[in-house]
Formats: sequence, C-alpha cells, structure tokens
Amino acid sequence: MPLDIQVRNAQLLDLDTDVLVIGVVRVPRTSGGSGKVFPLPPSLKAVDDALGGALTKLVAKEDFTGKRDQSVSLGSLGRIKVDKIVVLGLGDRRSVGAPEIRTFAARAARCAGTEKGRSLALALPPGVEGELRAVAEGLELGAYHFTKYLTGDRKPKTELAAVTVVCAGKLKPTSKAAIAIGQKVGQAVNLSRDLSNEPGNVIYPETFAAAAEKVAKDNGLKIQVFDFREIRRRGMKLIDAVGRGSARDPRFVHIAWTPKGAKKKLVFVGKGITFDSGGVSIKPAAGMGEMKHDMSGAANVVAMMAAVAALKPKVEVHAIAPCAENMPDGDAYRPGDIFGSLDGKTVEIVNTDAEGRLVLADALAYARALSPDILVDNATLTGACVVALGNTCSGWYSNDEGAARDFAAALKRSGELMWRMPLLEDLRDQIKSDVADVKQAGDRYGGSITAALFLREFVGDARWIHCDIAGPSALDRPHGWTQTKGATGHAVLTFLAMIEGASR
Ligand code: BES
Ligand code: MN
Ligand code: ZN
Repeated sequence: MPLDIQVRNAQLLDLDTDVLVIGVVRVPRTSGGSGKVFPLPPSLKAVDDALGGALTKLVAKEDFTGKRDQSVSLGSLGRIKVDKIVVLGLGDRRSVGAPEIRTFAARAARCAGTEKGRSLALALPPGVEGELRAVAEGLELGAYHFTKYLTGDRKPKTELAAVTVVCAGKLKPTSKAAIAIGQKVGQAVNLSRDLSNEPGNVIYPETFAAAAEKVAKDNGLKIQVFDFREIRRRGMKLIDAVGRGSARDPRFVHIAWTPKGAKKKLVFVGKGITFDSGGVSIKPAAGMGEMKHDMSGAANVVAMMAAVAALKPKVEVHAIAPCAENMPDGDAYRPGDIFGSLDGKTVEIVNTDAEGRLVLADALAYARALSPDILVDNATLTGACVVALGNTCSGWYSNDEGAARDFAAALKRSGELMWRMPLLEDLRDQIKSDVADVKQAGDRYGGSITAALFLREFVGDARWIHCDIAGPSALDRPHGWTQTKGATGHAVLTFLAMIEGASR
C-alpha cells in the first residue's frame, strides 16, 4: 500500500499521530565549554514544557549532540497527543544533502514500524524544505517489508499508513509534486526489492517477463518479450546455453521509453538469473537459497522504468533483461563446451557457475546495436567482488573516462556506495582460450576484474559502465533501507540520477 503523505506547517504540540520523529542537526560541543547541553530547537519548546522538561533532561543524560543517526526517544504517557517522541540526529548542517535526508526519512519510517505506529509525523529541521522528494523516497523505502508469505500470528498487525511531514519554512507550491515523484521513485526501488525477494518457484523467466509486462502496461511503456524460440532464432546462443538446463525456458525482456525529440539514448542491462544453482558446476548447499536474488540486476532495470515513466526525462531510456534459470540437467551446458554468441565471438565454457556473464554477453551485443550514448549493465556477478569490497559496497568499471565522470556524479547524487575498479590489462591473458575466441572465466584471483574484461569483449566501442552488485544484493545493507536480505533495489537511484543528469 502506498503511504498517504501530507506536508504541512504545524505546531508540534498540535500533532495527533502515533509517532513523532524530529530531525535535528548537530551542534558542536566545544563552542559552549563544559556542561553545555544540546539546545533543543525552539519548535520543541512547547512539547518539552508539556512533558515537564523531560526531553531536555533526556538529551543531557544521553549526551545527545545531533550526530548522524544518534537518537533519543520517550513515551509521552498521555501528556500530549503523540504517543512516542523520537529526536533523531542528522549530523553537521553542511553535510546534509538529499542522500542524508532520504536515509533520515527511512529511519523515521522504520521507527514508526518498531513502535507499531499507523501514523507518523516527521518534523524536518529548517532549511531542508527543498528536499521533499528525498523525504518521500526515504519514507517509502523505510516502510518496506516483505511479509506477503507470513500468515496468522506471523502477519504484522499494524502497518504505517499515514505520514505528516512538518516543515518550518514556507511551503513551496511544488511540494505536492515533489512528494508524488519521491513516492514513485521509492516505490520503484521497492518493486525491485519485491521481485528480488520472491522465491525461485514464484519468479522464473516467464513470470519475471510477466511482471515486466505489467510494469510496461501500467506505465504506458513499450515492451518486447522474446520467448525461447525467438531467443534461439536471433542467435542468442549464450542465453540458450545457460537456459537449456532448466525446465523453465529463458526470456529476453526489452522495455523502452522513447519521448519525441530525445537527443540522447541511455541503455540499461540487468542480469536476470532467476535462480543460480551453479548448473553442472553445482554450488555448495550452504547459502544456495540466496541465489534467488541472482536476478537483482534485471529487477533494478525493469523497476527503474516505472520511475522513468513518472519522471518523463527528455532522453530515451531502454531496460534490457536476459532471464534464465541456471540448473543442472541432461541437456544442460557443460564445462568444455564451446558456443557462438549474438556478437559472433565463440566462447569456451570452463565453469557453468559463471553463467551471468554469458547471458549478459548476448544482452550487451543486443544493446550495443541500439547505438546507445551510454550503456550501463548491473549484475550480481562475482563472489570475488564481495571478497574485494565487502558486502555493503558494489564495484563499478568503465572503458570511457567521460562516461565514468557522469557515473561518478550520479553516485554522488544518489548516495549509493560503489567503488570504481580497474580493467587491468595484465589479467586479460586469463581469459585467452586455445580453442575458442575467448574463455568464459579466469582463475580465482581478480575474479571480478576478469569477469568485467570478459564482458568488455561484447560491448564493442560503446561507452560502457559495468556494475558488479553481488555484495549488496546478496546481503543486507547498512543504509537502513532494507528489511529483508537481498532486496536492496541497489543502483536504481543511481541510474535515475544518471538519466536525470542526461535529461538536463
Ligand atoms: N551469482 C553468482 C555470484 C554471486 C556470489 C552473487 C555470491 C552473490 C553472492 C555468479 O553466478 C557466480 O556463481 N560466480 C562465480 C564465478 C566463478 C565460477 C568464475 C563466483 O563468483 O564464484
Ligand atoms: Mn553462478
Ligand atoms: Zn549467478
């Protein structure tokens, strides 16, 4: 259910909600000398008075300074209309931008969830009235839960439904629109999380394609879905190789936003392995269930299109998702096999668990033929990337410094944690094959880099960004946006920032 979000100027004492979260910025301690307590903002004076000064006392006792993520909370015991009051630090004034506001709002929504609140009032510190879109994004993200398979007592009884955003400054006439856009963006990320959290028995290539068709239909976007016959007819031999070991046939999804007069074309590709058993090179049993998330890249680009339709950028945007299930079977592909590809290059298979780069290779060759100004892929591609960067940070690569600058700028605006990795030419030898044009995978060391080098073989001279999102997609992230393992919607916000940057 989408949240009902209202924006108002109001006295905090007049608010009638289950939970009140008040955002405050940090006050440096040193300036006032010893013994100085955190000065509560004037807007809180009436609330503090009604509580007999309890807030002032608590803030002093807890050594609250307004640092980011620091919080104090207390129940009102019926003295004011609000049940629970939370004061949440935002950190230094100068460091507070859209990403920090988004995370703050997400934390507030989760506070409301913890308190079993149906209604939340969120008081913004003065001066951030311009960030209402980020507020709405964060509220939707923080309110996210994946509870559809819980029944009876396990089903949550209360759910956050209504939010009042309280602004100190004058409300802009655009505030309603900013909230609406922010909600659409947050809901797009949540859609990606939902698709990722769905188990492999529910989301497989056919049902993923059906979900993509729904996104396209609901948002008036063009869509093409290729079934297995069409995938084979077109010569996507690598998607064929990966998909042939499953009873669930592969699908190839292409959604497009094509406004009149568009001067640029951005093409996004996402790995859509709806379950990755490893195939004949089967994975160990421990943790294999996590591999239902191996279509997070595809979920990101498909869900992103819902937000694109709402943002209406003046550039063309394409989302491409090669979908397959990687399973062992009598007809499955095997180590040692050699396949052609849509690009024409031949590939020697060494490990059927390196399936993502194969479906991506055909998808990148298809995407390249659209002549994009920029080609971006994202994939839960390698465990090696998680080893390199840990499970909170993705890796990204580029073959073009101009594209890299645009992408780095988008990362700044989205606040997503992604680290640039090098396309080390020294490692290129690892994917040389004696029997085919290129070998599918290198050895253990530098595994994320050799995967990127393999993909590069298929992008031609396109300006290209590759994101290895294996870590954050398979494990929970510290941003405080996720409730469920794996469902991060990672990269959607960054891709939207890129699109909006190109549209300006
Ligand atoms: N989907 C996995 C990568 C992965 C691992 C994602 C852990 C999220 C968490 C990918 O298909 C894979 O199995 N990669 C292999 C490649 C290897 C066989 C060259 C890997 O990383 O071990
Ligand atoms: Mn694999
Ligand atoms: Zn995989």
